[in-house]
Amino acid sequence: MLLFQDRSRILLRFADLVEKHSEELAALETWNNGKPHEQSAKSELPLLVRLFHYYAGWADKIHGLTVPADGPHHVQTLHEPIGVAGQIIPWNFPLIMFAWKVGPALACGNTIVLKTAEQTPLTALYVAKLFHEAGLPPGVLNVVSGYGPTAGAPLASHMDVDKVAFTGSTETGKVVLELAARSNLKPVTLELGGKSPFIVCEDADVDKAVELAHFALFFNQGQCCCAGSRTYVHECVYEEFLEKAKARALRRVVGDPFKKGVEQGPQFEKVLRYIRAGKESKATLECGGDRLGNKGCFIQPTVFSNVTDDMLIGQDEIFGPVQSILKFKQVSIDLGCR
Ligand code: NAI
Ligand code: MG
Repeated sequence: MLLFQDRSRILLRFADLVEKHSEELAALETWNNGKPHEQSAKSELPLLVRLFHYYAGWADKIHGLTVPADGPHHVQTLHEPIGVAGQIIPWNFPLIMFAWKVGPALACGNTIVLKTAEQTPLTALYVAKLFHEAGLPPGVLNVVSGYGPTAGAPLASHMDVDKVAFTGSTETGKVVLELAARSNLKPVTLELGGKSPFIVCEDADVDKAVELAHFALFFNQGQCCCAGSRTYVHECVYEEFLEKAKARALRRVVGDPFKKGVEQGPQFEKVLRYIRAGKESKATLECGGDRLGNKGCFIQPTVFSNVTDDMLIGQDEIFGPVQSILKFKQVSIDLGCR
């Protein structure tokens, strides 16, 4: 196993190499995923560097405990590497997901087999080469490009993999957990989907709330597991909020992600399916609701009002630029006491 000083040094050297190559990596990430180049270059690459600095700092700070015991005993805990970490990542933040999985596992002295999402294999392969250049010995980090059932599932059920870390849909998370249980009962960590509420109360500063709710939903083209995808607005400010939210969505710049000022790149089929479901429900389409133009795979930023909890667009994770606005009268707090 690599000594912790070596692990730390390699992670720091890797962070420096990412910084050095950040221009081509930002472009490649936009080719990979379609996200705005400004976002890749100005937010995600600098974050990637910071994340690896952070994890490099962990390598020599992993402590056990001495535990008080009754009687003449000495009790201590020791944290050891778990072994081979299997990691399965999604396509919405290919490099950031890579960092969140690889950084901690390497800092703690594990070896890794990481499977990228089939849609976004490019940047992980590029940075794996940089790890090699940073001095990581061959075999410590292995990147596999491939599909879920043929490359992800064998990793989750492999008898020599000691742990699986997965980020993706809830549906696939259940499969991964089952494969892990049916093979060698390896521990699993899951980061899954959601349908997070964004609640605007009657005393809110409406302009601020509109901007925050817009960002919460539309950031990264709506492709975030923690997107604020149910916008609940108090009836007293509902009409004002609606008008302003609609105006804000109409100002969103969609198109070629390499163009300056573009806030939203391509995405298509699945989002359009949900938009159709919204139109077929009793929700009101306030703006958007279709593809943008007839070239490329761009979708108009879309706002539905009068959404209710029982509708498909109020329940499913759309993962696209579709804001669902729901009206409420009262927040009732369920303290969970029985
Ligand atoms: P997914 O969960 O199918 O894919 C995520 C990763 O799991 C990919 O690497 C994929 O190849 C792998 N995978 C798929 N089937 C597998 C299997 N049977 N065994 C092992 N690995 C498998 O997600 P998908 O289909 O790309 O997106 C569907 C929806 O999931 C999205 O629209 C969104 O709602 C949600 N999602 C949530 C993400 C998050 O960050 N929490 C990320 C991506 C998707
Ligand atoms: Mg899937």
